[in-house]
Amino acid sequence: MKKNIFARIWRSVFRHGIPDTDMNRSLVVTSNIFLHLHPVKVRKHGIKFWYTMGFGGTSFLLFIILVVTGALLMLYYTPVPSEAYRSMKDLNYVVSFGEFQRNLHRWAAHGMVITVFLHACRVFYTAAYKPPREFNWVIGVFLLLITLGLSFTGYLLPWDQLSFWAITVGTNIVGYAPFIGEKLKFLLLGGNTVGEGALLRFYVLHCFALPLLISIFMAIHFWRIRKDGGISGPPVEVKEVETELHSEKPAPEKTYGLMALVDGESFMVKKEPEDTVFTWPHLVLRELLWAMLVINILVLISLYFSAPLEEMANPYKTPNPAKAPWYFLGLQELVHYSAFLGGILVPTLAITALIILPYIDRNPRGEGVWFSRERQWIQIVFTVCVVALIVLTIIGVFFRGANWSFVVPW
Ligand code: HEM
Repeated sequence: MKKNIFARIWRSVFRHGIPDTDMNRSLVVTSNIFLHLHPVKVRKHGIKFWYTMGFGGTSFLLFIILVVTGALLMLYYTPVPSEAYRSMKDLNYVVSFGEFQRNLHRWAAHGMVITVFLHACRVFYTAAYKPPREFNWVIGVFLLLITLGLSFTGYLLPWDQLSFWAITVGTNIVGYAPFIGEKLKFLLLGGNTVGEGALLRFYVLHCFALPLLISIFMAIHFWRIRKDGGISGPPVEVKEVETELHSEKPAPEKTYGLMALVDGESFMVKKEPEDTVFTWPHLVLRELLWAMLVINILVLISLYFSAPLEEMANPYKTPNPAKAPWYFLGLQELVHYSAFLGGILVPTLAITALIILPYIDRNPRGEGVWFSRERQWIQIVFTVCVVALIVLTIIGVFFRGANWSFVVPW
């Protein structure tokens, strides 16, 4: 009788038995709202760690951690200049585990900027933006921009000298944009300078508008991964496609996002891939182990390194140098040479180039392979841009001192 009750409760929640048959392994995925993000089966190639390096999944995990820790921080935070800084002090010295929550949130945010960037690089170097994934790359570019927006708006909230001046410099860069720059800056700040209005706007953007927007874009991103046939991979063997193309049998309705190259032309294959394994347990267990590792690393970092908090924001005391958040220091470095270059030309060109990339790169080769030799030129150009960005950022972070003069950090 007792057993029956438990069995009934189990059945009321889970619509499958122990996953020791193919049917139950499928049901584990299809009958669970979270696992349902995945297909029942995945290609072996796509779950190899060295292919995706888990950067996309890690970005998502960090986002979830940010939502949870962010909600906890909201319990103690008041977005008013006179209160905001005091909330930070309270979190650091009064609230139980308050500083730990702050650290988790801060390091996860920096981590997400880095992993989203690395994820975009992985997608580029494995040519995973080629048909049919062009549009998902474009969605990804918006995800990158929103991630930067989330981090930037969060930067102001502690209302200390560091955050106040970083946002002052950052919004000045926004002001350089052609035609709309000044208007956009005014809209963002709710005035001409960083003040009460800016703090409230950044708070609303950071805690409501941008999280909502990024959630919508992520939902589209994940949905598209499924619709595009799962994770990319090398094109299927030509022989197989020829059989398929010349087959008498009508091809199944569903396409699998797999590409085949026939005489240099790419074809979408209408054929279920053969090299697949069940998502449960092969992919899901890998994801869980990876998530545990990432969470452990984040916890360790947050236990040993505190998020910075300088003295309270003072609009009359400009630090020298006043630096933008680290991921915009490359731009600030360029602005130092020319406001047009750093504030307008480079960001506009970079965003436009990223958005149109999958449509102008018409070379069908190299998909699913890291650093394919068949697309050397485009890889060289991309690498030069990435290295330039990293070098400029390092210069901005470590080698710039008072009056933006060159200093040696050691
Ligand atoms: C919040 C940011 C993002 C999240 C959470 C995210 C998440 C993911 C995940 C989980 C995957 C599955 C495979 C993997 O882990 O690599 C994926 C694939 C993909 N992502 Fe993202 N992504 C983000 C940003 C971006 C960006 C910035 C780009 C490009 C500019 C991008 C383009 C793509 C493309 C084209 C795929 C399909 C790749 C393939 O099939 O191999 N994503 N994304």
